[in-house]
Amino acid sequence: MTLKKINKLDLEDIYKREKRYLVKAVEDGKSPYHLFTLSTINDDSPELRIVVLRKVNINPFKLSFNSDIRSPKAYQLKNNKYCNVLFYDSIRRIQMRFKCLITINHKNNISQEVWNQTALQSRKCYMGPHSPTSILEAWHPNLPIDCIERDPSEEESQSGYKNFMNIELEIIKADILELHYNGHIRFEVLKNDKINFLSA
Ligand SMILES: Cc1cc2nc3c(=O)[nH]c(=O)nc-3n(C[C@H](O)[C@H](O)[C@H](O)COP(=O)(O)O)c2cc1C
Repeated sequence: MTLKKINKLDLEDIYKREKRYLVKAVEDGKSPYHLFTLSTINDDSPELRIVVLRKVNINPFKLSFNSDIRSPKAYQLKNNKYCNVLFYDSIRRIQMRFKCLITINHKNNISQEVWNQTALQSRKCYMGPHSPTSILEAWHPNLPIDCIERDPSEEESQSGYKNFMNIELEIIKADILELHYNGHIRFEVLKNDKINFLSA
């Protein structure tokens, strides 16, 4: 049996291809890369949650997502320089883990631009009276009660802007794992584009 041959140019091609999948995933809700796991540090312990991929910038390579500034993750993102994110495509069997440098956009030009492009239906999530993850005495939808069955008007939705943040994640290190029955392919890509094979 002959062993397959994988060289560093193949790794570059895999990395470029996966970046293209990420770009497509922003608009494609069915893509496995549309959602990803965000890991942050809460003082001394890690926390995880799912978020939606909102934008991908290829050069420099950056990902972004939106969230509520009142959430615990906002505190954790503000208090740490780095976070990790994880993607998995279970059909193509590819895992991508990125170490990222965090930039928070809140009440600035970037957050305003992203907010302007955010659908009224999505803006509603930032209009709830309670901080996300706060303890409730009783169940509450955490949406503006008079907008439960409808989208807010453009004017009404503006009350959510103060809670809205956009987070940009600049990729500092990538760890890519492609599963194969005849030998997995695993490599890392560092900030200077240096690529190293990693054992799987
Ligand atoms: C499918 C799905 C998509 C989600 N997308 C987002 C998102 O884009 N931004 C966000 O802040 N929370 C999102 N959430 C909720 C978070 O996973 C999390 O429950 C919430 O933000 C509170 O997180 P925290 O307590 O760690 O701050 C999503 C949850 C699911 C299940």
